[in-house]
Amino acid sequence: MAGTSGPAALLLAAGSGERLGLGRPKAFVELAGRPMLEWSLVALRAAGIAEIVVALPDGESAPAGACGVRGGASRSASVRAALAEVSADVVLVHDAARPLVTPDVFARVAEALAEADCAIAAARVADTVKEADDASMVVATLDRSRLWAVQTPQGFRRDVLARALDVGEDVLARATDDAWLVERAGGTVRVVETSPANFKVTTPHDLRVAEILLRERC
Ligand code: CTP
Ligand code: MG
Repeated sequence: MAGTSGPAALLLAAGSGERLGLGRPKAFVELAGRPMLEWSLVALRAAGIAEIVVALPDGESAPAGACGVRGGASRSASVRAALAEVSADVVLVHDAARPLVTPDVFARVAEALAEADCAIAAARVADTVKEADDASMVVATLDRSRLWAVQTPQGFRRDVLARALDVGEDVLARATDDAWLVERAGGTVRVVETSPANFKVTTPHDLRVAEILLRERC
């Protein structure tokens, strides 16, 4: 791993949670007894990560022990705002919407940076994946053995991420993950295999499943 200090974490919590539909920012919704983002903070601290910057929505303040910044209009704009606050050589970007992350994943992603510009947590795809056209007609069946469902954390050397994010707002808005920005800038991205249990809470169903699994941990 590059650098003299340990990795810093950017915790993304600035989204509005439209698809969850509770009328408040998703990362601050109560989940198994604490605000959702606290589960990721617990995992980050257990992983020994001391420098944590949280991208926040309007009206929320930084949790204890973390630095807060106002998030941007898109997810990657929030990453860019949070990155401006850190100086560590290695940066781990994590969605507060993945509260089931375990501490070991942060270390494994950081270690994988020895072999690539970017390393991403990802689970093998269990379903068969097909591509369909606008008329819902299947045009291709993809080779499942080569497909990965991408998660966070995603790890980067700081300079690589800063360069990848140095693009227009239109490109940032199209990015559903930051690794894609590294890919389009010609960088290498390595997959770190993780469990599908590190899923993203997007819908009310996801919230119910996360609640059950996190209650089991308490
Ligand atoms: N996020 C962010 N800044 C944004 C948009 C998203 O920090 N402008 C964060 C969210 O808080 C979340 C993560 O990025 O932790 C993944 O985004 P997503 O699951 O899409 O969350 P929301 O944008 O909140 O949900 P929705 O798209 O349903 O509104
Ligand atoms: Mg979103």
